[in-house]
Amino acid sequence: MKIVMIHGQSHTGCSCMVARKTAEKIGGEVQEFFLPKDFNHHCLGCYTCFTSTLDKCPHYKDLSVIIEAMDHADVLILSSPVYVYHATGAMMDFLDHFGTWWVVHRPQPQMAHKQAVIVTTAAGSGMKRTAKDMEDSLSMWGVYRIEKICVGVQATKPDEIPAAIRKQIEKKTDRAAERIVGHAGSTGTNHRFQMWFYIVKLMHRLMPGDTPDYNWWEDHGWHGNQRPWKSEM
Ligand SMILES: Cc1cc2nc3c(=O)[nH]c(=O)nc-3n(C[C@H](O)[C@H](O)[C@H](O)COP(=O)(O)O)c2cc1C
Repeated sequence: MKIVMIHGQSHTGCSCMVARKTAEKIGGEVQEFFLPKDFNHHCLGCYTCFTSTLDKCPHYKDLSVIIEAMDHADVLILSSPVYVYHATGAMMDFLDHFGTWWVVHRPQPQMAHKQAVIVTTAAGSGMKRTAKDMEDSLSMWGVYRIEKICVGVQATKPDEIPAAIRKQIEKKTDRAAERIVGHAGSTGTNHRFQMWFYIVKLMHRLMPGDTPDYNWWEDHGWHGNQRPWKSEM
């Protein structure tokens, strides 16, 4: 499988170690990006992506390298350490650039062919919220299946992680990798995306309009019988 890993930090610490271990267990071709090293921009809030298209984003040149990799990936792995109970600013800056990919705007049908793993490590707490920061985007993009690996490592570096927690990491990465491999090649969507899809479809029926979002749905046949999670690659 083709795996793209996006790390919300530019160092190879605990989160990176757990993410790499997961990728290794899934097996396949791996491409890695580190933030902010490989993408170092805040969303400017210019709304260009909403009023026209994402490729007009002032940061598109740098963004396109990661988009190209994600487009070809079967599995996306997002990793972030917990920083004050949330994903790193670099990860959130990256995800902010994909507001138009959310189901309520212009979802990308290729997401239905992808699975994802979210990896987060903390000294002790805040992992669930941090995982949710990343899950919100992946689920609203329409990624088919999402696995989460949250670890309280009681450490600031991999070599400080206690033996019992190392064992836990092995178990959690084994289980996530097994499930990802078990669903290889299958297609679908997550419940949250599907629910929002039908809400937006209804809103479009009640309030049709000549907007880039409405036209995207119309062009894809989603106002009719087509569904983003049933389209061919
Ligand atoms: C700025 C900063 C904020 C942090 N906030 C938290 C926190 O809210 N909760 C926690 O348990 N650990 C917190 N930590 C500790 C890291 O999340 C933890 O050591 C993590 O495993 C480091 O992962 P890394 O090696 O991938 O950077 C924080 C560390 C830093 C540098």
